[in-house]
Amino acid sequence: MSRPPPPALPALHPRLQRYLDGPWGKVQGFVHPDAMVLLDVALAFQESHGITGGFFEIGVHQGRFLLALEHAAGTGEPGLALDVFEDQALNIDKSGHGQRAVLEANLAAHALEPGRVAILQGDSTAPATRRAVLARGESYRFISVDGGHTAGHAASDLRLAEEVATPGAAVVLDDFFNTGFPGVTEGLAQYLTSGGTLRPVGVIGGKMLLSPLSWSDRMRAALRKRFAESPRFRVREVSFFGFPYTQARVA
Ligand SMILES: C[S@@+](CC[C@H](N)C(=O)[O-])C[C@H]1O[C@@H](n2cnc3c(N)ncnc32)[C@H](O)[C@@H]1O
Repeated sequence: MSRPPPPALPALHPRLQRYLDGPWGKVQGFVHPDAMVLLDVALAFQESHGITGGFFEIGVHQGRFLLALEHAAGTGEPGLALDVFEDQALNIDKSGHGQRAVLEANLAAHALEPGRVAILQGDSTAPATRRAVLARGESYRFISVDGGHTAGHAASDLRLAEEVATPGAAVVLDDFFNTGFPGVTEGLAQYLTSGGTLRPVGVIGGKMLLSPLSWSDRMRAALRKRFAESPRFRVREVSFFGFPYTQARVA
């Protein structure tokens, strides 16, 4: 006897739902739809606290998750997309394959405000790239860390994310506990145990949500509530190197 399908994904904020129901399927990428719940909870949390800011992704490939961040952001909030793009010799662990022209076409076709996304080509671990990001003087409320997948990349990219995160930001790290890319989990451990101030909040769909430490407990309470309200999820409270977070999987 085959198992019945799992309960549906809970309804998302209208902008995120519109993206998931439409453009999502037309943009090639490496994101599980359940990860959208992380953005949805963060968006509701930030709206309830009056938090604004832009969006930033390190490692954009063809823009599937960048466009999710773009749909989460409010009107006029700026965006930044960072990737090595065609300079794939710098993609040393061969995770994805940025293609600038494809990204630009996807942004033109599917972004709510295509003109607001600045594109930066560079190696996220290079000091010059870091300076170029900081020189923009922007802070971001939605950040995705999905560039190089070695421990060094993950730890360095989390430090950059920490520097440009607005209070109450949602920082989403891809491939937590993906056995094909163990460096991400190793890099997260290095970051957390060497003074990093982002804190784990929750995990679903292969992505970990983190937030600045003064905000993470409150964001986690909001995430836990959302998971508990949906029959789709089975939830466990766990900890990683002593840092607690809420883990959900599809029932
Ligand atoms: C797994 S893909 C990103 C997937 C994307 N977030 C999505 O929504 O589908 C990883 C991306 O990181 C880029 N990348 C790899 N190493 C990088 C580095 N050192 N700096 C910036 N980008 C890098 C690759 O070119 C690739 O596009």
